[in-house]
Amino acid sequence: MQIHSAIPDLRAALKNCGRIVFVPTMGNLHAGHISLMTQAHEHGDTVAASIFVNRLQFGPNEDFDKYPRTFKDDCEKLEAAGVDVLFAPTENDLYPEAQHYQVDPPEIQNQLEGQFRPGHFRGVATVVLKLFNIVQPQVAIFGKKDYQQLMVLRNMTRQLALPIEIVGGETVRAEDGLALSSRNGYLTPAERSEAARLNGVLRKICAAVLAGERNFPKLEQAAIVELDSHGWKTDYVAVRQQADLQAPQPGNPELVVLAASRLGVPRLIDNLEMRIIRHA
Ligand code: PAF
Repeated sequence: MQIHSAIPDLRAALKNCGRIVFVPTMGNLHAGHISLMTQAHEHGDTVAASIFVNRLQFGPNEDFDKYPRTFKDDCEKLEAAGVDVLFAPTENDLYPEAQHYQVDPPEIQNQLEGQFRPGHFRGVATVVLKLFNIVQPQVAIFGKKDYQQLMVLRNMTRQLALPIEIVGGETVRAEDGLALSSRNGYLTPAERSEAARLNGVLRKICAAVLAGERNFPKLEQAAIVELDSHGWKTDYVAVRQQADLQAPQPGNPELVVLAASRLGVPRLIDNLEMRIIRHA
């Protein structure tokens, strides 16, 4: 695996590499990231990953400096996953001057995750557009675990006519349903056994919707009550349309239920897609 931090070196390494599939990350890699790398091989000739902890997407209360940096470990995992080229810029490589030009996503950036992380999606969209311009991939893969991020980046790519196919990578789960996340490491053993409830309440909502229930606020409220009565502090449980994460329009069959809740120290997020099949 080639590793480059300077933009000109990276560009030279990616010349004549055929169809480039790009998987951006902030490092601290787990099996969920590695499954994105594995999927990447199915979409092109050369797999390029990046590791960059992007200061722009951290809020003032989110500790940018404490974000785990595990570069050596990450490189070994990427190498084992067959990644061809790793772009690992320093802050000075990517932001040699203050980044005054930024991508401002529409109002959805202030809802769901955005309500609790102001400015987050602006920082994500800005760095991803910049990484796209540097790597110039034909395909880019983002995990469905960060569903709102995937939706914002998919819509940014379409609206700005970027010649890049965006692929959503399936969430990797532990046996009990808990979505893999680096934050799971902060759970105590007791919290770890409780943690699967988040996925459990989402499954219940999907089952109810697929059985015909359309009172979404009632389902969302019941899920919040269940979580919070088991020690969680829930930020939101929301049934939305997959395409734009707006409230479901009657007749739209492609929905997703998303949730964020704190259990002890870590704040966990999860989501499940559902497709309502109409019988004639
Ligand atoms: O999902 C992430 O790790 C980050 O938000 C991303 C897409 C690499 C941008 O910094």
